Amino acid sequence: MTSRTIRAWLLAAATAVTAVQGQVLSPGAPPPQPAPPLSAQAEYMRAHFNQAMVVHAAIIRGDLGAVAPAARMLAEQDPGLMPAGSAAHVNAMKEAARQAVEAPDILAAGQATARMLTACGNCHRAVGTMPALASRARPPVGGVVGHMVDHQVAVDLMLRGLVVPSDSLWRQGARAMAAAPLHARELPVDSSVRRELAPTEERIHRMATEAAQATDPFARAGFYGQMLAGCADCHKRHPKIWGPKP
Ligand code: HEC
Ligand code: HEC
Repeated sequence: MTSRTIRAWLLAAATAVTAVQGQVLSPGAPPPQPAPPLSAQAEYMRAHFNQAMVVHAAIIRGDLGAVAPAARMLAEQDPGLMPAGSAAHVNAMKEAARQAVEAPDILAAGQATARMLTACGNCHRAVGTMPALASRARPPVGGVVGHMVDHQVAVDLMLRGLVVPSDSLWRQGARAMAAAPLHARELPVDSSVRRELAPTEERIHRMATEAAQATDPFARAGFYGQMLAGCADCHKRHPKIWGPKP
């Protein structure tokens, strides 16, 4: 697989929710019915989700400058456009987005974003909806890029665990994250930088083991924010080359 197709796959991460899961047809089955049109509310929610993913990718990249403009759209949205539900959750979400806009560093931005995603999940739970967020197949790549794709898949699962919210997706993601340590010798840098970066990677994997045990949404948000900041620790060394692309 070329790096161009990997990149396309990673970009699809940000818009995964717009893809309806493929239908499997058996021979002789009637042709698939066209999907019913989305309600205005569902359209709005999808746009919202995609915007949240832009913030999320900027944090993973360690690109603080790109966080604020993306988070501002969520912080300043018209609450009247949100589905009817709990105003308290909408406020909590906007407040967390505002904290991401004003965050002085990536850790603070990661923590605020994790709280924002938790507020999405708290509202979904409160109004009794479970949004179906599509998942993607992992492309067959190895090496550092393959390891990063595993990271991204694990983070996606944990994110869905927060937003849906879903205990099983959260645990599945945290376990996947704990399971795939990167060997420091694989990092494409010289040995002194490698010595500096290896503990970050170890910390992320250790944290994922603890995160898998967490059941409280706020505790989960705490782990998640720190993990995103861990991704950023490495990527911000080469923000144009390492990490998910803008
Ligand atoms: C006011 C409570 C509330 C908040 C806050 C909220 N949502 Fe939703 N969300 C809903 C409701 C209600 C639906 C169902 C809408 C429908 O299908 O008509 C929904 C549906 C969704 C869907 C599925 C749309 C589809 O394809 O059918 C996604 C994705 C989503 N929300 C993401 C988010 C994200 C991400 C956030 C936070 C940034 C968020 N939501 C915050 C209430 C909320
Ligand atoms: C120990 C350092 C390190 C940590 C920690 C780290 N990354 Fe990376 N990441 C890299 C390097 C190096 C690259 C560039 C790989 C390449 O292109 O050869 C990269 C690239 C990526 C890419 C782009 C892959 C591509 O080339 O298209 C994604 C996506 C990614 N990382 C996700 C993550 C996520 C999510 C986390 C946190 C859970 C994370 N990474 C943590 C070092 C790290």
